Amino acid sequence: MPLSFKHLTSTKQLTREDMDAILKVALEMEKVRDSGGSDLLKDKVLASLFYEPSTRTRMSFESAMHRLGGRVVTAEGIQFSSLYKGETIEDTIAMASQYADIIVMRHPEQGSADKAASAALVPFINAGDGPGQHPTQGILDMVTIYKERGTLDGINITMVGDLKYGRTVHSLSFLLGLYNDITFTLVSPDELKMPEKVTSFYKEKGISFSETNKLEDGLQSDVLYMTRIQQERFADKSQYEKLKDSYVLQASHVKDKDITVMHPLPRVNEISTDVDALPNAAYFRQASNGVIARMALLAMLLGKA
Ligand code: NCD
Repeated sequence: MPLSFKHLTSTKQLTREDMDAILKVALEMEKVRDSGGSDLLKDKVLASLFYEPSTRTRMSFESAMHRLGGRVVTAEGIQFSSLYKGETIEDTIAMASQYADIIVMRHPEQGSADKAASAALVPFINAGDGPGQHPTQGILDMVTIYKERGTLDGINITMVGDLKYGRTVHSLSFLLGLYNDITFTLVSPDELKMPEKVTSFYKEKGISFSETNKLEDGLQSDVLYMTRIQQERFADKSQYEKLKDSYVLQASHVKDKDITVMHPLPRVNEISTDVDALPNAAYFRQASNGVIARMALLAMLLGKA
């Protein structure tokens, strides 16, 4: 199943056909993973370049590659090596293209992924470019919504927290926008509202959305997508201190309700641990879907699915 793109920098690149195809392959990859993996990517090498901290994304890319029999080369502490010596992103990526069949990169600067993709001689995947995009998280979130709700059309979703700097809600918005009858309720402090690049997309597509400061206004949806206030993006730390406890989801908010609770993780304090045991708390299942979604994407970008 060919995808309409060679490099993945933004979810805006995906068509509905792309998303449907990735979802289908991800569900097949779940069976592959659960039955012991395969050697589909046995001659392939992934270069993993993380200029910003990552636990889940890096581990799940590596796990995805290993479960398909591929190998991984990692540049750890890369900010202390080539970047420190003054090498450009373009040169680093051109060089990594000589070592690997596919490259994944996380970088603190918005737009860095486009620079990297322009220099890549092998498929390139953005694993987060500052407050810009995090397309593979958006894709695994779509896989999760499908698995939890049984459909991607007609979804009412509430996004809560740092909608300004949280790249995952940007990526997810563009993907959900490919489906029919989607409604967004956006809950954030005034300082952290969804950026215009996303709301203008909702408007263009005629997608219905509303903005509010109150968590209580968003508890009637199918999906409740909580996010962390992105401490590392605040130039003014007192601003972070002021906003960090804006929303805390308690079990009483969602207990016995037909609402799926998601979070890209890591959580700080925005979901109380008493939510974890509820059947509709989907965030750890969501993390597991990260592996099957990335298995699908790696195989498809390498022309093996
Ligand atoms: C997210 C990210 O890096 O943007 N984490 C992740 O990849 N699962 C969310 C976050 O850091 O808050």
